[in-house]
Amino acid sequence: MGFFNELEDRVVGAPSILAADFAHLADEVRRARDGGAEMVHFDVMDNHFVPNLTVGPAVAASLAAATDLPINVHLQVTSPDNLIPAFAEAGVASICVHPEIVTHLHRTLELIETSGCEAGVALSPTTPPEAIKWALPHLDFVIVMSVDPGFGGQSFIPEMVDKVRRLRGMVGFPIAVDGGIDAYTAPVMVEAGARVLIAGSAVYRGDPAVEMRKIITAGRAATA
Ligand code: DX5
Ligand code: ZN
Repeated sequence: MGFFNELEDRVVGAPSILAADFAHLADEVRRARDGGAEMVHFDVMDNHFVPNLTVGPAVAASLAAATDLPINVHLQVTSPDNLIPAFAEAGVASICVHPEIVTHLHRTLELIETSGCEAGVALSPTTPPEAIKWALPHLDFVIVMSVDPGFGGQSFIPEMVDKVRRLRGMVGFPIAVDGGIDAYTAPVMVEAGARVLIAGSAVYRGDPAVEMRKIITAGRAATA
């Protein structure tokens, strides 16, 4: 089981810690949780696959001890296999990798699964849905990136709505969306088939509880 396997058709929100104040990470997550967040999205960047550099397993372990929300690790790194056991050991719930950079995706997904975490892929904007066709039996979720990976606060790429719609027809597991998600783009993505709304700057630019709640409410209204 696990977070994604038990989600069914619910629409949920997740703050992306990339936009949070890293000096007060546990508090920042708590504030988004007060607004209804059910998962934490944890962006890991290596200054190689993407130009940015963030945090690793030590910070994930500290956060896992400080929150009861499941941690979803988004590995934006060139060599994810080196990090997967350490993140699993840190107590995270799910891990996703980018098929654009992983050489042996099947092996990497098996590694995530045998580490005891739910396994996913994150698709960069120009990666076609069909890229994961032969990986489907090994996936618990997919993240459609609606910005290029690497930074928060970028503009939403509207073509990604069609990509979510196409994936919806291909997969039975939950589709998450990441990048430029706010109270305006969330309902459009939910209408197309997304169920997990990951948002960074839109949550942390104001009161995280209020902003998280706005995004979840707008997303849920699109299923009504
Ligand atoms: C970008 C990250 C996102 C990022 C989204 O590489 O994967 O999780 O935090 O930021 P916003 O919500 O500001 O677009
Ligand atoms: Zn992310």
